[in-house]
Amino acid sequence: MTNKYQKLLTPLTFQRSGVTIPARTALSPMLSLYGEKDGTVGQTALNYFGTRSKAQGLLITGASYVSEYGFYDNELGLNDDKFLPGLTKLAQIMKKDGNKAIVQLHHAGKQASGTAAKYGFVQVPSKLPTTDSDGVPTKEMSEEDIENVINDFASATKRVIKAGFDGVEIHGANWYLLHEFFSPLYNQRTDNWGGSLEKRMRFPLAVVKAVKKAAEIKPDFIIGFRMTPEENMPSRMTANLATTKGYSVEDGLKLANKLADLGIDYIHYSLFSKYDVGPEGSSQSYGQMLKEAVGDRVTTIISSGVHTADDALDALNHGDIIAIGRESLVEPEFTEKIKTGNVEQIRTEITRESAQSLAFPDALVDLLLMKDTPFLVEGRENLTVLKDNKTEEKPVEPATDTTSGASN
Ligand SMILES: Cc1cc2nc3c(=O)[nH]c(=O)nc-3n(C[C@H](O)[C@H](O)[C@H](O)COP(=O)(O)O)c2cc1C
Repeated sequence: MTNKYQKLLTPLTFQRSGVTIPARTALSPMLSLYGEKDGTVGQTALNYFGTRSKAQGLLITGASYVSEYGFYDNELGLNDDKFLPGLTKLAQIMKKDGNKAIVQLHHAGKQASGTAAKYGFVQVPSKLPTTDSDGVPTKEMSEEDIENVINDFASATKRVIKAGFDGVEIHGANWYLLHEFFSPLYNQRTDNWGGSLEKRMRFPLAVVKAVKKAAEIKPDFIIGFRMTPEENMPSRMTANLATTKGYSVEDGLKLANKLADLGIDYIHYSLFSKYDVGPEGSSQSYGQMLKEAVGDRVTTIISSGVHTADDALDALNHGDIIAIGRESLVEPEFTEKIKTGNVEQIRTEITRESAQSLAFPDALVDLLLMKDTPFLVEGRENLTVLKDNKTEEKPVEPATDTTSGASN
């Protein structure tokens, strides 16, 4: 009998690297507070990812910092060889069930809370009022700072390769450093790294080129780029960051086109509401616009709001691969259950008690299951229930009343 979800389970081969993933689903990158305080991989991270090794066909770690001046607390570090032993164990545990594992490369820019606490400033393309950086003084990056960070991305890539991962995803989304350089709101530079659209693209593209060069030692290495489709899109998670008059959807597509020309494996659109949303007034979703723009030059990944196998199947109308975030926290064997025909056993609910068996780091329980968490699902006060199963049931047809004569 054919599996209704066969399309999701069909392997996909990335055109550039030739690497094949066994299913068209991805564990969305989530910095889930699994790292040790000093950025190393400890037992918490190994348990968290070991439990999710069958979650999806492509497993992407949460944001991991490439630079001392761009990190969050509890983020995994990639900027020193001392991290290699832990990263090597992590690669092994993520890949143990045959899925591919990649690391998300990150510089947090104005949101680098760890750097802020340690050094008292954050690095940004242009000086910002501290109201825009959580009260932390901002340091406009010098030409040398910029070159250093580009080199940091390259060095981190070499470590990721050494550790045995299958690829990297460059974090160019969600108002972090690469996004900030691309944004006319956050990049007011008048040198070669700011001003026109072309110049604002220069930093993210320079990072991609450096990562590609660093990865030449391993041709079968996946290189992806995550970006925010447009700066003004509605987003509950980024509502306090997003303002109007940022970069447009057309600007975003121009960057996507450049990335496709450069030659990477995939472009991943970061969304927070639902996989099928699009710009205001457009009949196409962001994912469909991306596919139309890049064609077959690169694979596309779309994300957000997938909680069931049917959601994931439907999301294939908007991207080649479906990234699944919060649902992968609650159901660590999402794709495995689709593969083995156990779709009805896919969990969409979690309690504080069951969180433990799902290898939730303690801090993550507090962050996601508390009331009014910023990581809400639409219409919920926390993540204990991702989907109201009652809405899944078919509405009961009213019995035909032949005596009333009512037709409506
Ligand atoms: C706890 C948490 C941590 C996240 N961390 C990251 C991250 O490190 N990098 C990133 O690109 N997106 C991050 N995101 C966003 C997710 O990858 C995803 O885009 C978002 O949750 C929407 O998808 P979903 O509805 O499937 O959860 C995070 C989301 C959550 C809930």
